[in-house]
Amino acid sequence: MAYKRIAVVPGDGIGVDVTAEAVKVMHACGDVTGRKLELKHYDYGAEKYLATGISMPPGGYDDLASYDAIFMGAFGDPRVPDMRHAADILLGTRFVLDLYVNYRPIVLFHERLCPLKAIKAGDIDIAIFRENTEGLYVGMGGNFKKNTPDEIAIQEDINTRKGVQRIIEYAFDFAVKNGRKKVCMSDKSNVLSYGHDLWQRVFKEVGAKYPQIQTSHMYVDALSMQLIKDPKAFDVIVTCNMFGDIITDIGAQLQGGLGMAASANIHPGGAAMFEPVHGSAPKYAGKDVANPFGAILTTQLMYEHLEMKDEARLLENAVKMAIRENQTTHDLGGSLGTKAVGDYVARAIRSSR
Ligand code: NAD
Ligand code: IPM
Ligand code: MN
Repeated sequence: MAYKRIAVVPGDGIGVDVTAEAVKVMHACGDVTGRKLELKHYDYGAEKYLATGISMPPGGYDDLASYDAIFMGAFGDPRVPDMRHAADILLGTRFVLDLYVNYRPIVLFHERLCPLKAIKAGDIDIAIFRENTEGLYVGMGGNFKKNTPDEIAIQEDINTRKGVQRIIEYAFDFAVKNGRKKVCMSDKSNVLSYGHDLWQRVFKEVGAKYPQIQTSHMYVDALSMQLIKDPKAFDVIVTCNMFGDIITDIGAQLQGGLGMAASANIHPGGAAMFEPVHGSAPKYAGKDVANPFGAILTTQLMYEHLEMKDEARLLENAVKMAIRENQTTHDLGGSLGTKAVGDYVARAIRSSR
């Protein structure tokens, strides 16, 4: 019997390319530890949507939720300009399964990968927690007098006390469990005087319950600057949905680019979905050039969540070795294709038996 059941949704563009490598690496880990995953592939994505009009079939979210974990590639296709299918599949999964924690670690594996001067491996180790079910992402709003000179467009920013509190508490609990010292909350409360004032008040209330953790606050514009000026200063960051989206792309570049960044979408005690931070990069789709490390390191987050520590360690060591030996795709300065990098990582895992 399989050790754990995983739903795999490669999606669109390079999502397909990098998911194939993540799956390769899952098989390699299973061969070494004997704990095999049962993988079920789903063809949800632009192709299916364009052919059938179906993004997520009836019962689709419940079906995904029945797995021990969900692995997704990326969604986005120029043929679907309004991203309707991605809204249903990706945001739909986050919202319907109430995956309110978006954990996006920023870790620098090798100084060569960081665009900043004098930053060494290990200097950057930031845990970003992005609220994943509210904010500007809820899709509330509308148009009035659309396509006329008098058009009005409204996009609501939803912040609930429950929603703000649970992500802030999760960030503090993570800090305590993982020996972290500091939690920084980032908002724009100087302008968003209702929604982000709520973040201010809840952060103070929750922070007071964790006297062992040093708290700080930064407006998101200043934080974006500080991430470049002194990324070493950051430990745990918690922020809203939209700002989390933006600052995790900045963070991705600090660790070597979007091709390196991993993420976990979690409902504590419930469902969990894992996806690289990057998108479908249509210009690279099917060309064997996308960096698969983001997807592979996302697999590591999945293993950690499933308490498969041996597999997580095997995988991380193999990625580190590939980077050390320059066995990487072009974005990291190497000369290998996506598949060859996956092969290298899988081989490195198998040879560490
Ligand atoms: P993107 O992340 O797809 O690509 C931006 C750039 O980052 C690429 O041109 C490339 O230079 C680099 N890049 C990204 N991933 C890489 C990888 N694995 N290896 C090497 N380089 C990589 O962002 P975009 O171009 O803004 O968006 C393309 C589509 O993806 C859009 O439809 C967008 O909405 C969607 N998107 C989806 C997700 C998701 O599914 N999680 C995330 C972001 C964007
Ligand atoms: C991400 C992506 C998504 C987001 C898009 C594709 C909806 O940018 O996962 O970072 O904004 O959350
Ligand atoms: Mn993003």
